[in-house]
Amino acid sequence: MKTSLAIPVKKTQSSKLAETDFSNLVFGRIISDHMFVADYKNGEWTDLRIESYAPLQLNPSNAALHYGQSIFEGLKAYKNDAGEVLIFRPDANWRRMNESAERMCMPSIPEEIFMEGMRQLIDLDRAWVPSAKGSSLYIRPYMFATDDYIGVKPSDTYKFIIFTCPVGNYYSKPVSVKVETKFTRATEGGTGAAKTAGNYAASLYPALQAQKAGYDQLLWTDGKTHSHIEESGTMNVMFKINGTLITAPTHTGTILKGITRDSVIQLAKDWNEPIEERFLTVQELKEALENGTLEEAFGTGTAATIAHIQLIHIDGQDYKLPEKPANAFSYRVLAELDGIKYGSKEDPHHWILKF
Ligand code: COI
Repeated sequence: MKTSLAIPVKKTQSSKLAETDFSNLVFGRIISDHMFVADYKNGEWTDLRIESYAPLQLNPSNAALHYGQSIFEGLKAYKNDAGEVLIFRPDANWRRMNESAERMCMPSIPEEIFMEGMRQLIDLDRAWVPSAKGSSLYIRPYMFATDDYIGVKPSDTYKFIIFTCPVGNYYSKPVSVKVETKFTRATEGGTGAAKTAGNYAASLYPALQAQKAGYDQLLWTDGKTHSHIEESGTMNVMFKINGTLITAPTHTGTILKGITRDSVIQLAKDWNEPIEERFLTVQELKEALENGTLEEAFGTGTAATIAHIQLIHIDGQDYKLPEKPANAFSYRVLAELDGIKYGSKEDPHHWILKF
């Protein structure tokens, strides 16, 4: 997108770059030097700026801290062999952020502010984009209420911030997941499709119980009957049964419209792989695990990319998944996505923003 948006920059006086160990990147621990900030007041976004990543000043009566008007996005930038920066599908994140904003009674963010704030920030912090394969720069745009008022109503003022962190893999090995049939992540009419802080807060307790029992994550089921699979903790989820990929549809408003999910569906269609967007019941999943027709199960997400699932727990029973052949769909789709993201493969769907 061509722009004339001039964003003032106040560079940091103490870069953390030299002391950062890029060979040992734990997801989300190290934050790059600068952040983009914009303030919303009197019905418009003002005071756009790039400055040092630093603590914010908030009043104790800040509305977001009390009532949770807070939304976020996650996307990634990669470096190709020529040193150019490639961002994967930022327009899709911008659209989804505004869908979350609408659900949470928050203002929308103009495309130019989202895109240019992000592009100019990453241009300044170019040296923070890792070049090793498997590493990337995770970009975290988020918005929260800033009214100092504890009456329950939508805030009149907000902050939109983008910061970034160099990251490695979110999951370092295939994951074990537990089918959750007691707790609920989302229900129809709720906020499940919005990327809002409260959804993640509500998931912590059930996820912790599962982790204590030895599982990495949950497979959430629907809130009404707990009979079909919806999504996993930090990702959407896909199964390959008898040669067909199956993933939950998003029309119920209970499932996050994952951008990696959408990209995998597109690639499966490009390759004429049978794929169904429909709910898989827990019973079907159990039968497929028992009769050996479940070929693959994997999560899809920006942070997780493609997370291979090695074990599924259902109703007191652990089911180990079969070894995957080298040409399994999940390996091929991960290699294709990585090729597009790092610029070594064609980008037929124009998913990459390069600068
Ligand atoms: C992402 O994949 O960007 C996510 O939002 C997951 C995050 C909560 C770690």
